[in-house]
Amino acid sequence: MELSEYVEGQIWLREYPIKYAGCEFNARMAVVRLSDSRLMLHSPCEIDVGLKEAISALGEVGCIVAPGSYHYFHVPSAQAAFPAAETYICPGVERKRPDIDFDWFLGDRVPEALEGDFDQVLIRGTKYIWEVAFFHKPSKTLILVDLVENFTAATPGVNWQLRLWWKVVFHMWNHPKPAPEYQMGWKDKNAARKSLQTILGWDFDRVVLAHGDLIEEDAKAVLHEAWKAPLGE
Ligand SMILES: [Fe+2]
Repeated sequence: MELSEYVEGQIWLREYPIKYAGCEFNARMAVVRLSDSRLMLHSPCEIDVGLKEAISALGEVGCIVAPGSYHYFHVPSAQAAFPAAETYICPGVERKRPDIDFDWFLGDRVPEALEGDFDQVLIRGTKYIWEVAFFHKPSKTLILVDLVENFTAATPGVNWQLRLWWKVVFHMWNHPKPAPEYQMGWKDKNAARKSLQTILGWDFDRVVLAHGDLIEEDAKAVLHEAWKAPLGE
């Protein structure tokens, strides 16, 4: 799978296969060019020699972002490939992987390196899974990991186990919704609703997500529908 240009000169994406509880599906890394021309690696995959070259050809990596409690696995490989980059993590990652060095806890305040380019919010009130949502203002792109998944017949890289679970158990086939770990329960629905409303207040046209098809049409309406339960609508 290649690093492919998604928004001209601003965002590149790379899908890569993962396995989780017998299910095979893809995850997605985003590479975003910041206004100071440096790059942000969002939810990195393993950075091999070829990928390091492809990314380096785009520019210098300024920061590596582990945006969620299931999206940090390849941070060490990204740090090894780009040792000068800073690392920003979603709170909680430090407990799962205390060996990972990092420079900043992601929250509602945008780190200095991302100021002007992004708005961000830490999703509050969750129980089993945590994430920080990013809004890339220049391209009007919302960048999430697990807050919405979008598996359809067009999604590559899914095995029959994934299809069975997502169709029969989770009812998430052709039906974008938060990852099952969100739906298993919220600690504080009011807090969660506030975070989701912050996101829906941003002026985005499209959604980059980690698992499944990108959302490029009626993005806001699709998210309203996907988040119906936690929004209490
Ligand atoms: Fe994920």
